[in-house]
Amino acid sequence: LLIHSAKQIVQVVSDGRRFRKGNEMKTLDFLEDDEGQGFSILINRNGIICDIGTDEEVRSRCADRKEGIINFIDAKGCSIIPGLVDAHTHPVWAGDRVHEFAMKLAGATYMEVHNAGGGIHYTVERTRRATEGQLFTSFKERLMRMREAGTTLVECKSGYGLNVDCEMKMLRVIEKAKQTMAIGISSTYCGAHAVPKGSTAEEATKDVLNNQIPELTELLQSEELHVDNIDVFCEKGVFDVDQSKQILESGKSIGLNINFHGDELHSTKSAEMGASIGAMAISHLEEISDEGIKAMADTGSVGVVLPTTAYILRLKPPPVRKMIEENMIVALGSDFNPNAYCHAMPVVMHLACVLLKMSMQEALNAATINAAHALGVSDKHGSLEVGKYANLLILDTGRWENLIYKFGCYGDVIKNVIYKGDVV
Ligand code: NIG
Ligand code: FE
Repeated sequence: LLIHSAKQIVQVVSDGRRFRKGNEMKTLDFLEDDEGQGFSILINRNGIICDIGTDEEVRSRCADRKEGIINFIDAKGCSIIPGLVDAHTHPVWAGDRVHEFAMKLAGATYMEVHNAGGGIHYTVERTRRATEGQLFTSFKERLMRMREAGTTLVECKSGYGLNVDCEMKMLRVIEKAKQTMAIGISSTYCGAHAVPKGSTAEEATKDVLNNQIPELTELLQSEELHVDNIDVFCEKGVFDVDQSKQILESGKSIGLNINFHGDELHSTKSAEMGASIGAMAISHLEEISDEGIKAMADTGSVGVVLPTTAYILRLKPPPVRKMIEENMIVALGSDFNPNAYCHAMPVVMHLACVLLKMSMQEALNAATINAAHALGVSDKHGSLEVGKYANLLILDTGRWENLIYKFGCYGDVIKNVIYKGDVV
């Protein structure tokens, strides 16, 4: 496939090809239109980018290739950016929590709803009752909506089962999508997403360590499941720092990347703990301490910030400017879940700019290369570089920033979503 005549290509490359630290973000690699000259991207039949440059350069290098070009896309007047990466979602569940949105608007806090048996508990009851087929149908629909909004790689968590049977059911649903759908998926086991009704945190920790993780280990060994990360909701009144650490380390010992919820509603030193055990990423961080920022900057743990949650729950936003100044790696996620129902990364990027004071370039970095790095796959995803997957968006505008500026109107801007070289 040859995409040619584009007005602008935003490659988002970084020196190490892995991520961009905040203070390096001004140097986005623009190949700007020059005297009517356009730019091309050449993609091979395995969906890998094999050349990027001006139309002339790519055409002349093409002449030396044995295989001819079969498909062409004329991108005249368009800009091209990497496919978006959503570093944090909870997309497998049944039920509807719109009534809780009304309660929260009337003043109830997230934990008040949760402690009254709603929130995650409400969703757990319905998810346990749903069949694998039912869960897959709604999950698939959600993934297609995410992709329409430009997402080509998404992290997907379990966590509405809270027992061995339903957690493995959720992971099987995610696995099925991973094997069959044209969107990248990084899957996360989150059996410690809440303390099940009628249990204590101590009992729930034991269930995760002694029942759920051993079962998961067997399914990973038999290759029935391919799970990438382990997550815990580390929060006052849910799993404390010690319980979270035990669970995360147990996941790490079976080869999972540590990627968890921390320092969201209370400052619990989750960031310090996560950095000390080599967390790949920690999400939320509204209440991160200065020491936590330093620890994560030192170890290179990625801070995944979730502007939809801070917005919906009217929380103090995470201190992103400080994180970036201190050289932390910042990524973005939609946190799509029944509390924060938003599957569109362009909306998330808009909120990140307005509420978290990120620049548009920083938001793009955070929603591409840094998010891919948070999932440990920035060698293949997150930027337009030779050798990486051809996951990209063709935008119907010569200025890519329209994707962020036109709030909620990504449908007006995204012309094509390309996943591994195919228009999807
Ligand atoms: O990231 N904080 C915990 N988990 C989710 C919410 C899940 C839910 O409310 O269903 C989050 O916001
Ligand atoms: Fe979450």
